Amino acid sequence: MNLKNFALYQTQSYVNGQWIDSESNDTFEVVNPYNGKKVSDVVNCNGKDVELAIKAASEAFKIWKKFTAGKRSKILKNWYQLQVDNADDLARLLTIEQGKPLAEAKGEILYGASYVEWFAEEAKRNYGDTIPGHQADKRIVTIKQPVGVVGAITPWNFPSAMITRKVAPALAAGCTVVIKPSELTPLSALALAELADQAGFPPGVINIITSNRAAEIGEVLCASSKVRKISFTGSTRVGKILLKQCADTVKKVSLELGGNAPFIVFDDADIDSAVEGAVASKYRNAGQTCICSNRIFVQDKIYDTFIEKYSEAVKSQKLGSGLEKGVIVGPMIEEKAIASVEDVVADALSKGASITTGGKRSEPGSLFYEPTVLKNAKPDMKVFSQEIFGPVAPVFRFKTEEEVIALANDTPYGLASYFYGRDYALIWRVAEALEYGMVGINTGMISTAVAPFGGIKESGTGREGSKYGMNDYLEIKYMCWGGVE
Ligand code: SIN
Repeated sequence: MNLKNFALYQTQSYVNGQWIDSESNDTFEVVNPYNGKKVSDVVNCNGKDVELAIKAASEAFKIWKKFTAGKRSKILKNWYQLQVDNADDLARLLTIEQGKPLAEAKGEILYGASYVEWFAEEAKRNYGDTIPGHQADKRIVTIKQPVGVVGAITPWNFPSAMITRKVAPALAAGCTVVIKPSELTPLSALALAELADQAGFPPGVINIITSNRAAEIGEVLCASSKVRKISFTGSTRVGKILLKQCADTVKKVSLELGGNAPFIVFDDADIDSAVEGAVASKYRNAGQTCICSNRIFVQDKIYDTFIEKYSEAVKSQKLGSGLEKGVIVGPMIEEKAIASVEDVVADALSKGASITTGGKRSEPGSLFYEPTVLKNAKPDMKVFSQEIFGPVAPVFRFKTEEEVIALANDTPYGLASYFYGRDYALIWRVAEALEYGMVGINTGMISTAVAPFGGIKESGTGREGSKYGMNDYLEIKYMCWGGVE
């Protein structure tokens, strides 16, 4: 594995401060998507193991919620520092199990750690209110209390940052957590658990259940009355299932689901800057990011110039092993992901699109797909309505502001959106008209711990990061004092 700190390489689940096997003794394989080789066998938990983790989290909650905010903050800061100190190793593990280039993986580790630092600070700012009473003898105050045990179900595309983005605010609020990482990328999660152990969290505060039985684990987490909140990042299809499963126990739910981000370039935009933004936002993690631009809309007058410059920039990105220097685009995660990309490209070509660069699988492995640009994309193509989740950029032509707003909003999704333009009135109009939770204006990069990340419509509910991020893990209690004469 070639790590400086070999303690980060863990293959057992982490429950109640212990590394454990499943009661079934079962394991599953983790595979490197670059070459298809086995990386390790990891413990394969079942429903009974999850029950144990929930019990541990529930017991630990009684203790953790009573820690002062300052004490919780201190332990979170230790965890943050350990992540930064071990960033090179954490990045290496991430690249090996997920495929993204090392520099991008290190970027994710530091991005993920920044949520821990942010919420270590926010822990100390969990303020309530005093409210002017409605009668002369009444006094009203509110306090905010942790919801309880949180189930965090996290994806493979950001195996580290999507954990810290959920777990840090939960822990800061005084909740305890049971994490179910993706079966494709459990090693990054287990490395975070090892560092949490070193940081000084009491046993049971953080628990990690590794398993390839995602449906079974999700069902147990959702059905448990001890789990008071589910936070999920993943597909809209699975998000809807979890939402239904949480109905019986009326849990709080945060969902960060699929997207279909428009990336609009108006005639007056700085084209070079728009090209740069469109490359950054489309090809991050080989296009496997919920906020990747999915549909690029370019205004008539600059369409051809944009296509030419964009195709050149896209073509220059080197494909290869994430561990190799200079590689910008790594492999896709698995066969069904690349097959889905092939399907939408074939559909677009059959309906009149053409390829300016890319368009097929490529060396050095079976999961590599060339960074691709599709010209003359049209709304009747799958690339208009479907989340592509791969390195393919369809470019649509539009004439007017009204037309492009209608096209951009013509989707059940509402996560991220982007546009480039200079006219300040147009900027306000378009930003207000886009039906999305996040809008990048003259930038393709919007992710940061200090801003509220999240979507509307079928892209989800809840916000992660920022001063709002802890609210999803808190309940407001109102106290009405009478008889104050
Ligand atoms: C995601 O889209 O899955 C997360 C991306 C981010 O936080 O930037």
